[in-house]
Amino acid sequence: MTTIREAQRLGRAHLHHSPSPALDARLLLEHVLQRDHAYLIAHDDEPLSVDEEAAYRSLLKRAAAHEPIPYLIGHAPFMGLDFIVSHHVLIPRPETEQLVELATAWGRGKAAIRAADVGTGSGCIAVSLANGLPQAEIVAVDLSQEALEIAAANVARHAPERVGLVRSDLLTALGPGLDLIAANLPYIAGHEWPTLSIGVKSYEPTLALHGGEDGLELIRELLPQAAERLRPGGLVLLEIGWQQGDAVAALARDWFPAAAVSVRADFAGHDRIVAIET
Ligand SMILES: C[S@@+](CC[C@H](N)C(=O)[O-])C[C@H]1O[C@@H](n2cnc3c(N)ncnc32)[C@H](O)[C@@H]1O
Repeated sequence: MTTIREAQRLGRAHLHHSPSPALDARLLLEHVLQRDHAYLIAHDDEPLSVDEEAAYRSLLKRAAAHEPIPYLIGHAPFMGLDFIVSHHVLIPRPETEQLVELATAWGRGKAAIRAADVGTGSGCIAVSLANGLPQAEIVAVDLSQEALEIAAANVARHAPERVGLVRSDLLTALGPGLDLIAANLPYIAGHEWPTLSIGVKSYEPTLALHGGEDGLELIRELLPQAAERLRPGGLVLLEIGWQQGDAVAALARDWFPAAAVSVRADFAGHDRIVAIET
């Protein structure tokens, strides 16, 4: 019979391709046993049942084939909260927290704000905006109905009744009068596709990744729609690929000639966000 300790050792050996084999094995085991980390430490000589061991081995096999751990366990962290994820949504990335932080810093102290999260996926940005900006009215849109269902579950979990969810091609289903538009749209260019990890390109939804030939197709479409809907004094925040800062800033200046357009870098010094302040 395999104990919790032996199961973790087995997991680490199976997941040697991963940069974090011990953590991955532990998360899978916690999921199978429906127990937390403290329990695994305190009961490491407890045996797994036959069914638990079979379920664990099956997840290890999928993880060894590069299926991302959040898809296997059904959740991922973002801004200190736990978000439900499925294969229909992008796994929330820590880099995107910077966009939320810029948005909430800008909106804090402002009276009433109407905000839109474009391409909401799991709803991680919209939910975090709802928590950071209690006075804001927030609408989140996505083209994918399946993604909207996951976003709805996350809204119910973390910000009930704070976020309206609308199926929409970018902003087309929304009217004017927005103060804040936040968008982490697909921005992977065609030529970058071969460089993506197997875990990303085989398991994350193409609709969440592929930004057309140069990666900027969706952003190019969004900007005129945003220009029609943003109120004076408003802010647009676009997450971008690390080589897209100059190109997106130039597009932003075309559609918002009077705005202050800036490119913000992430902690690694790579272009990450374009901000348009009108
Ligand atoms: C990069 S993911 C971002 C998901 C989430 N906002 C996040 O930051 O983790 C992009 C999202 O945009 C959605 N999307 C793609 N094309 C769209 C379109 N034309 N209109 C609305 N949403 C779209 C995808 O379904 C996906 O959920």
